[in-house]
Amino acid sequence: PTSHTADLVVFGGTGDLSMRKLLPALFHSDLEGRLAPETRIVAMSRGGLTDADFRGKVDAEVRAAVPDDGVAWQRFLGRLHHVSVDVGGEDKSGWSTVVRMLAGHEDRDRVFYLASPPMTFGPFCRELQEAGLVTPRSRVVLEKPLGRDLVSAQRINDEVGEIFDERQIFRIDHYLGKETVQNLLVLRFANAFLEPIWNSLWIDHVQITAAETVGTPGRRGYYDHAGALRDMVQNHLLQLLTLVAMEPPARNDRESIRDEKVKVLQSLRPIVGSEVDRFTVRGQYTGEGDMPSYLDEPASTPTTEASRRVETFTAIRAEVKNWRWAGVPFYLRTGKRMPYRRSEIVIQFKDVPHSIFPGGTPNRLVLRLQPEEGIELHIMAKEPGAGETMLKPVPLSLSFGKTFTARVPEAYERLLTDVLAGNPTLFMRRDEVEAAWRWIDPILAAWESSAELPEPYPAGTTGPAGAHELLGRSGRAWHEEEA
Ligand code: BG6
Repeated sequence: PTSHTADLVVFGGTGDLSMRKLLPALFHSDLEGRLAPETRIVAMSRGGLTDADFRGKVDAEVRAAVPDDGVAWQRFLGRLHHVSVDVGGEDKSGWSTVVRMLAGHEDRDRVFYLASPPMTFGPFCRELQEAGLVTPRSRVVLEKPLGRDLVSAQRINDEVGEIFDERQIFRIDHYLGKETVQNLLVLRFANAFLEPIWNSLWIDHVQITAAETVGTPGRRGYYDHAGALRDMVQNHLLQLLTLVAMEPPARNDRESIRDEKVKVLQSLRPIVGSEVDRFTVRGQYTGEGDMPSYLDEPASTPTTEASRRVETFTAIRAEVKNWRWAGVPFYLRTGKRMPYRRSEIVIQFKDVPHSIFPGGTPNRLVLRLQPEEGIELHIMAKEPGAGETMLKPVPLSLSFGKTFTARVPEAYERLLTDVLAGNPTLFMRRDEVEAAWRWIDPILAAWESSAELPEPYPAGTTGPAGAHELLGRSGRAWHEEEA
């Protein structure tokens, strides 16, 4: 459905996220008729560009990444504007340009998308209010990272909360926009067969992996102070965990799902003090072949002690302490420079209670988020043959790409559509973000006070030895398959 006419103001609108994700997603929405004809996209940056400069830049940098439709593309370019604004600076002239542009359009939906570092969120919202730009129909979208620990996240939430109501605040976690992630809810709650076995009686453990082949070239300034735990676990991986572990919500509405997710985060068993060494692993990649080490990645900032200490890989054994999940480990793992790019959730079932055949292996359900969205249920089958019964695990597999002809949209497309429609279900509520930090903080604290550096692992491998021991000591192993 076409959204209301909106003015979408993107702060950081000429940056990497905007050029690589937001603008292509908006173009797809436009192409498929989901943007109202009068909707405008206003990029804000310090860049000093005119509308024409900005359109030229988008034409040069984005066009090749989207479908070739000349007419639609020209219409899309016509929606784009640019305003130079110096947030926090003395010069307020940029703000008056924005005020002039938006004046007379108070009846439109106004979306302020902050694709900028988190310390700018509070000041930006204050300046928005001082400029008189916040209307009852306004929304604000916050990109991650939302702070770097609980205290800073609370501060940001307080600052933004002074200007916007919680119902106007959309905190993005782009993993929630991925098709398979939404499919997880459909799989669990629109099919009857899984829910009865979705618990500690039948499930041995869960693995959630987000493996990337990329390193961190050019990102040292950010990454040295983030690390894999803040960059990927606090948000993406914990969000996936909540969707796997949550109770069935009563309704599919804006709060019911989020209410259930937050309960999961609150049930996570804290990992504190000496347990941190037992239940968490951190690694940093070293150079291998033509892949440089983390410390040798090209960067605009020099390496410091923080660079030596930051983790580019982490694995954690988490536990959800409630009736359904008692005793079921949730293993989380993410890393840069792994041998493959793959994000998946693996539900490892227990073995049959009594086996009458030799050689069986327990069932496993794999939900693949990327690279190819799909679901695989590994079951035991009999190998054809008249001799002795031989078992073989075979996948029952569903590939979304092969089953559905429709294009699988990018995560940002879905999320931007929801922002424009005012639907917050796939966005993180304040209490969720803070509950996640509450669990992460003691792990960070223990790492920060540790004399040890992250365990090295060669670039292009599946992480340090510790990650394998984390499962190995209870006789389990990571789901590796065709790497
Ligand atoms: C981002 C992280 O949130 O997610 C990046 O900041 C990471 O470090 C990216 O590369 C991964 O997203 P995706 O969609 O490629 O799995």
